[in-house]
Amino acid sequence: MQSRYFDAYKGWQQNPEEFWRAAAKEIHWFKQPARIFDRDQGVYGRWFPDGETNTCYNCLDRHVEAGRGGQRAFIYDSVMTGTQKSFTYDDVLVEVQAIAAVLRKHGVAKGDRVIIYMPMVPEAVFSMLACARLGAVHSVVFGGFAAQELAARLEDSKAKVIISASCGLEPGRVVAYKPLLDQAIDMAKTKPDYCLILQRDQLHAPLRYEHGDRDFADAVEMEKVSGTEVPCVAVKATDPLYILYTSGTTGQPKGVVRDNGGHMVALRWSMENIYGLKPEDVFWTASDIGWVVGHSYIVYGPLLAGNTSVIFEGKPVGTPDAGTFWRVINDHRVKVLFTAPTAFRAIRREDPEGDFIARFDTSSLTALFLAGERADTETLKWAEQKLRIPVIDHWWQTETGWPMAANTMGLGLMPTKHGSPTRPMPGYAIDVLDDAGHPVPSGTLGNIVVKLPLPPGCLVSFWQADERFRDACLAEFPGYYKTADAGLVDDEGYVFVIARTDDVINCAGHRLSTGAMEEVCAMHPDVAECAVIGVSDALKGQVPCGFVVLKHNVARDHALIKKEVVGLIRNEIGPVAAFKTVMVVDRLPKTRSGKILRGTMQKIADGMPWKMPATIDDPAILDEITSILKANGYARSAAA
Ligand code: COA
Ligand code: AMP
Repeated sequence: MQSRYFDAYKGWQQNPEEFWRAAAKEIHWFKQPARIFDRDQGVYGRWFPDGETNTCYNCLDRHVEAGRGGQRAFIYDSVMTGTQKSFTYDDVLVEVQAIAAVLRKHGVAKGDRVIIYMPMVPEAVFSMLACARLGAVHSVVFGGFAAQELAARLEDSKAKVIISASCGLEPGRVVAYKPLLDQAIDMAKTKPDYCLILQRDQLHAPLRYEHGDRDFADAVEMEKVSGTEVPCVAVKATDPLYILYTSGTTGQPKGVVRDNGGHMVALRWSMENIYGLKPEDVFWTASDIGWVVGHSYIVYGPLLAGNTSVIFEGKPVGTPDAGTFWRVINDHRVKVLFTAPTAFRAIRREDPEGDFIARFDTSSLTALFLAGERADTETLKWAEQKLRIPVIDHWWQTETGWPMAANTMGLGLMPTKHGSPTRPMPGYAIDVLDDAGHPVPSGTLGNIVVKLPLPPGCLVSFWQADERFRDACLAEFPGYYKTADAGLVDDEGYVFVIARTDDVINCAGHRLSTGAMEEVCAMHPDVAECAVIGVSDALKGQVPCGFVVLKHNVARDHALIKKEVVGLIRNEIGPVAAFKTVMVVDRLPKTRSGKILRGTMQKIADGMPWKMPATIDDPAILDEITSILKANGYARSAAA
C-alpha cells in the first residue's frame, strides 16, 4: 500500500492554511486562532497570529485534566549516578509549578529570559516547562560550552535569572559548572539578578549569596510544601517560547527564536505522522537538552503527544559499555529511539557483531531515527541488520525545529534510499538552486533552499536581530530560506544532503563553527594567521583541524604553542569543540584576492580528489600543506 505521505504532502500543497488549521485542532487554545497565517507580520509572516495559548498547559495540565495524570511523563535513567526514576504527569506538574513559583518570586514574568545551564537532570526539563508556564523565554546552554560562550548568550539574551547545577558528569570526570558560571557572569556586561543552583551529590558548589545565588532545591521544596499554585499565563501564539543559540558564520552565536503556537502545532503533527507515536508510547531521544533535538524531542514533542519520554544521562559507549542503549530500551520498553549517527558508529566500533544486542530484550523497539549529521551507509546498514527494524535518516536543523525531510513511520514508510533522508515533509517546498539563484535540474548538486514562508515551528527570527536573520538566511536567494546545506533532489523527489555551504561542521552530532575557532586561534599572541577546517573522522563524522602561521619573530617551541592553542579553544569555546589537532605551517594557500582555500585544504586532508584552483596565488603552498598533513596522518590518498 502506498504511504499516506503522498496524500498529506499533496493536501498541504493544495491548501497550506487548511492543512495547518486541521493540525492546530490538536492543540488547546485559550483563544482559538481565527487567522492561520499573516504574511504581513514578522520577517516572512507569522502563524496563528491571533491565537492565545500556553505550551506548558498543553504539555501537562491538559493531560492531567483529561484524567491521565497517573501516566509516566518522564523516565530518568542516569548511568552516571546509577539512578532510575519515573515522574508521572501529576508529579511533573507539581515540580513545574513549584519551580514556576520560585521564578515568579525572583521577579520572572512573561517575556523575561531565563538561562538554563544544566546537565541531563530532570530539574533541567522541569525548569524549561516552568518558564513556559510563566510565558518566560528560556535559553538552554549546553554544558560542554565554556564560560565565554555562556557569557555571550547571557549578554545577548539579557537573562534575569540563571538556573544551573553544581556539576555535570562526564566519564571519569566531574565537570564543575559553578566556576564556569561565575566566570561567565564576571565577564558579561549584563548580570542576572539571581542564580538558582542545583547542588548534586557529586560536588557541592559554594554559593555567592551576595551575587544573588540561591539553592535551587531549598527554594523549590519550600514552594512544594506550601502548595503554591501557579496558573499558566496566556501568551500569544507568536510570543517567544525559547531562544536557542547556535553556531553561525562568525563567533557571535545566532539566537534562534521559536514561538509558542506554531511550534506546538508542528511538533504535535510530527509525533504521530513522522515518528508514529501514540499517547503512552515510550520515546527516547538520546541527545541533550542543550541541542534542538533535545528541545523538540526530549521535552516538547513527547509531552504534547502525551508520550513517556526518557531523560538519559550517559554515553552510548563506556558507561559502562556498548550495551547501554539496549539496556535502556529493555528496561523502559522504548518504542522509538532517536539519536545521532555518531552514537551508532561508537557502538558499532566497540561491538561490531552486535553481541550486546542479543543480551537484552529490544522487541519493544519499532524504529530508529537518526539526525544531526550525515548518516553514512555503513552505519545505516549495520543498524538495519542488527536491529531488523526501519532505520530512518531524517534531516533538519536548529533553525527549523522539526524535520524538513524524513520517512514517515506514522503515515506509512516509503522505500528507503541509503544516503537520503527521503522526501520533504508537508510545510517544506524544497528546491535546489545554483549560486546565481536558478533552479537546477533534478539530480544536480546545488544550494538546498526552502520556499517561504517557512512552516509553523521554524524559527521566526534571530533574537532581536531581524536584519541579521534576513542577511544570513533570506537575502541570498530572495523568496527562499537558505538552509546552508548543499545537496540535490533526485527525479523521484528524494533529498540528498551532501555538505554545508558555510563554515559549520558537525562533530559527534554537535554543530560547531570553524570560523569561531579561527577567531580564538588568532587570539594567541604568537599566531599571525590561521585556518580551521573540518576533516573526516571515522567516529565523530568530522573533527576540527587547525593550521597556524606564526609571527616572524617567534622562536618558542612549536609543541608548546600548539598545546596552548588547543587549550585556548577548550577554554574559550569548550571541550565540546573537540579541537585536538593543530599544525604549524609557513604559509596558508590563498587565492590572488587573499581568500584562504579551505575547501581545497579539506579535500587534501580527506584524501579526496581535488583540482588546482585557477585563482590560486602560489600553487607550491598546497604541496607544503599536503606534506604537513601527511606527516600528521592525513591526506592518505590525495591526488592532484
Ligand atoms: N558537559 C561537559 N563536557 C562535555 C559535555 C557536557 N555536557 N558533553 C561533551 N563534553 C566533553 C566530553 O567529555 C569531551 O571532553 P574530553 O575532550 O575531555 O574527552 C569533549 O566534550 C568532546 O565531546 P564529544 O565530541 O561528545 O566526544 P566524546 O568522546 O565524549 O563522546 C560520542 C563521543 C560519540 C560517544 C558522543 O559524542 C555521543 O554520545 N554522541 C551522541 C550524539 C549526540 O548526543 N548528539 C547530539 C545531537 S543529536
Ligand atoms: P543542528 O542545527 O545542530 O541540528 O545541525 C544542522 C545541520 O546538521 C544541518 O544543516 C546539516 O548540515 C546537518 N544534518 C542534520 N541532519 C542531517 C542528515 N540527516 N543528513 C545530513 N546532514 C544532516
